[in-house]
Amino acid sequence: MTDTDQPSTDQPLVASCQPTVLTLEPGIYWWCACGRSKTQPFCDGTHEVTDIKPVKLRLKETREVTLCNCKHSGSKPYCDGTHQRMSQ
Ligand code: FES
Repeated sequence: MTDTDQPSTDQPLVASCQPTVLTLEPGIYWWCACGRSKTQPFCDGTHEVTDIKPVKLRLKETREVTLCNCKHSGSKPYCDGTHQRMSQ
């Protein structure tokens, strides 16, 4: 593998082409924006090797959320349907 085969560190990886639907308690969550976390859809610190930062999600009440896993949503951290235009 050459250096040109390495994924860019300023572009997110597609973790999945399907969103994650969760019911979350009130609190602060960090959504993985780089696509490299092993604890999707949340940050595990792997972004440190990239130029991408996680997105803070603050919930004041228990809510069902649909979180983006393709990492290309226009309304991060939420799914906006962009994944439907991606190859499976
Ligand atoms: S999973 Fe990214 S827009 Fe739906």
